[in-house]
Amino acid sequence: MSAVAEVTPQTYRSAEAHAFQAAGADFLYLVPSGAIFRMEGLSKEIVDLLRATELSRDEIIDCFKGRGYLPGDIEGTLDDLEQAEALASNHVKPVKPALPIQNFPLQRVVLNVTNQCNLACTYCYEYSDDKITKPDGKPKYMTRDVAEAAIEMLILESSSRKGIHVTFFGGETLLNFPVMRSTVEFAISKAAEVGKEIEFSLTTNATLLNDEIVGFLSEKRIGVTVSIDGDRELNDKMRVFHDGRGSYEVIAPKIKKLLKTHRSNSIGARVTLTSQVSDVRRIYQHLTTELGFDSVGFSPATASPDRLYHIGTQKMDNILDSFAALAWEYRDHAVEGRQHGFTNVSDTLKELHSGVSKAYPCGAGLGLLGVSTAGDISLCHRFVDSPVGKMGHVKDGGVNHDARREFLSTHHIGARYDCHTCWARPVCSGGCYHEAFIHYGDTAAANLHYCDWIRGWNDLCLQIYGEISVRNPSFLDRFSD
Ligand SMILES: C[S@@+](CC[C@H](N)C(=O)[O-])C[C@H]1O[C@@H](n2cnc3c(N)ncnc32)[C@H](O)[C@@H]1O
Ligand code: SF4
Ligand code: SF4
Repeated sequence: MSAVAEVTPQTYRSAEAHAFQAAGADFLYLVPSGAIFRMEGLSKEIVDLLRATELSRDEIIDCFKGRGYLPGDIEGTLDDLEQAEALASNHVKPVKPALPIQNFPLQRVVLNVTNQCNLACTYCYEYSDDKITKPDGKPKYMTRDVAEAAIEMLILESSSRKGIHVTFFGGETLLNFPVMRSTVEFAISKAAEVGKEIEFSLTTNATLLNDEIVGFLSEKRIGVTVSIDGDRELNDKMRVFHDGRGSYEVIAPKIKKLLKTHRSNSIGARVTLTSQVSDVRRIYQHLTTELGFDSVGFSPATASPDRLYHIGTQKMDNILDSFAALAWEYRDHAVEGRQHGFTNVSDTLKELHSGVSKAYPCGAGLGLLGVSTAGDISLCHRFVDSPVGKMGHVKDGGVNHDARREFLSTHHIGARYDCHTCWARPVCSGGCYHEAFIHYGDTAAANLHYCDWIRGWNDLCLQIYGEISVRNPSFLDRFSD
């Protein structure tokens, strides 16, 4: 922070914050710093007073001496409030989130090892009417050669970062298991050569899992995300084969076997919600109790408003209510020190706990890049083979740093004027680029169609965070790394 020329006396006011209550206590979510501050007694009185007026330090001290407080206590509380950035001063310029350092080190590549799929899920952004990818004329399967060039690019671009990550994606990823397997072996040996720690993950529709693949995933400690939308009836509304047959019957036994056999890394379910599939409690119950997942994450389908499966405002509100019921159950578990599998809550609590103040909504183009079957580098896996978000080629010059820089400078929170007065911006930062492109035709647009939802969700998670911090604070230690 830089001091402003002291021509006027220094005064204080309450910093920009979102107030909430939890476990009978008052909290502030401090927008500039992303910190959560519990207010009690004098600190609450000072913050409340400085919401309505701006006073100098001496004026504050005089005011609270008049209310019977000791000067030393007032001074100490003011120092604490200043340190927590709960107070803003006319002598301190607000800090704008900084642009990332040049050539931000890469942490993760997402390899779209195929653009083919054996399913035809109605909502799929890769094949539906909303698709932005143009894979015509591109190879259907990534070759070993291209995959290995992508790994070399990751190692080079990760610069001094020790931990790196490769995610295998598709189309249906396991349609190209041979290249996935050889790439894992190659990446492990390359990472070892340069002293980096490498991890892998896979997203799959589970239809092609067999003993050989599961054995490999387990041996190489590959984290797995399985896409499934609930029980047979719900899953089969959208997740169907090309002939319209539902996929549940094929995947359920394979998933059970995967969960039983592969114990060396996390295996989570990923549910895509639509207007027809939105019974969050029923889906969660089935996936945890019947199939045995211990973590389940939900994501509303990205779709233009005229698609039948698009979730309208009313249904999104209902989904928020169902999320809330499951989130309070998470709270109950946490207070008793027990794990709960609703990962949307744990993901948000982790962000709140670490005090993120995002300059970008996600790592796309920053620590993460997507790679298409042909080796084209893109903003993320949702943009591979799309004319939007192109950032070079793994075998032809690697990352195009000019394109990457240009993207980052035009998508920074500072450039999203609609978000500048929103208290949720440290965690949202405008929302998903792909969602924005589908809704507004512009990756740089803020996703204003779901602001109320985002603020509602974050307010709920703040309350849950506050309750856990009062009733079982040690539970939050798991979010510290
Ligand atoms: C595109 S698939 C690729 C990997 C693999 N075929 C699978 O289904 O897991 C990855 C994930 O994107 C989700 N997905 C597809 N279309 C979506 C959309 N329009 N909005 C949100 N998620 C979507 C899928 O449900 C799946 O969980
Ligand atoms: S299985 Fe995955 S890639 Fe294939 S259609 Fe379904 S969501 Fe899309
Ligand atoms: S998109 Fe909406 S909720 Fe998100 S930061 Fe911008 S204004 Fe806030």
